[in-house]
Amino acid sequence: MVTLDAIHAAAELLRAGDTVAFPTETVYGLGADAANPLALRRVFEAKGRPADHPLIIHIADASQMAEWGRDIPEVAWQLADAFWPGPLTMILQRGKRVLNEVTGGQETVGLRVPDHPVATALLREFGGGIAAPSANRFGRVSPTRAQHVRDELGAHVGMILDGGACRVGLESTIVSLVKGNVVLLRPGGIQVAAIEDVLLQSIMLTQPVGQAVRVPGALAAHYAPATPLELHSAETLCMRGFRLAAEGRNVAVLVLGEADKCGSGYCAYVPMPGQPDEYARVLYSTLRRLDSAGFDHLLLEAPPDTMPWLAVRDRLRRAAQGALQI
Ligand code: TXA
Ligand code: MG
Repeated sequence: MVTLDAIHAAAELLRAGDTVAFPTETVYGLGADAANPLALRRVFEAKGRPADHPLIIHIADASQMAEWGRDIPEVAWQLADAFWPGPLTMILQRGKRVLNEVTGGQETVGLRVPDHPVATALLREFGGGIAAPSANRFGRVSPTRAQHVRDELGAHVGMILDGGACRVGLESTIVSLVKGNVVLLRPGGIQVAAIEDVLLQSIMLTQPVGQAVRVPGALAAHYAPATPLELHSAETLCMRGFRLAAEGRNVAVLVLGEADKCGSGYCAYVPMPGQPDEYARVLYSTLRRLDSAGFDHLLLEAPPDTMPWLAVRDRLRRAAQGALQI
């Protein structure tokens, strides 16, 4: 429960240049005043994030888009109408007042209107834009509960607003709308098909050659749990688990649907939801739980290679850090 007093106090901290971790529908963000360079520096320090990796500015509603972006194309208004508040981040040409500390020196800015009552209340009370990356150490799994933030960043955050478990569970979909193209930079909480239904056109799934955009989420080793993790097809999963267990490893096997797929007691079997939205909701908290449960190897059954699973598969692939088997 977050009281109005807590929202007031959090907005005061933001005005004073401090950081506030807050819930969104996707994951928890580590927020700072987007117009205060010193406050932004605190965010980078707390995360251990390189200064040239840009932050998303969170705004209360679409009317603030023009304050931070410029030359806003019609498609941006269409997407804002359809998906804001919600898990969609739009990359636009940056407006004059956007600080280099936010964009990492790039000419573009990421904007999002989050869909969570605590985030909305905080944005309204604060009045300005809140720059916020996910509230985890750089390269680690995003937090989906306040306790995750406490565990990982506790002492480095001015205040943590506890809004319970995040509904979506993985990060927003990021689309770039600069230079007349609609390009998917990161699959996430909004399905590609939903965006295409609104725009009545296909969107590009990879960035066009020659338009380098820095997205740390695009580094192979991003979103990684601490325990080694491998992805396997249903066919190779059980054999791999059996082999590792025979070597004396303490293995957890995350299977889609039924837990006893491999029909043996050699590993710990963790059933995962067979539907992409539900899988996404529990993925990061499951990885954190297994990380602290003392397993020395995680094996995951790869979800189907279909568009609804795109975001989940993207995060799993990164978490596997190259041990990819799908
Ligand atoms: O769901 C989310 O998007 C969460 C919540 C807190 O809103 N935020 C989040 O922020 O995931 P972060 O910083 O962990 O990931 C944002 C991604 C980064 O990979 C960053 O590089 C990219 O967005 N990004 C931000 N501004 C950009 C820009 N101008 N051009 C290209 N990529 C950008
Ligand atoms: Mg992040």
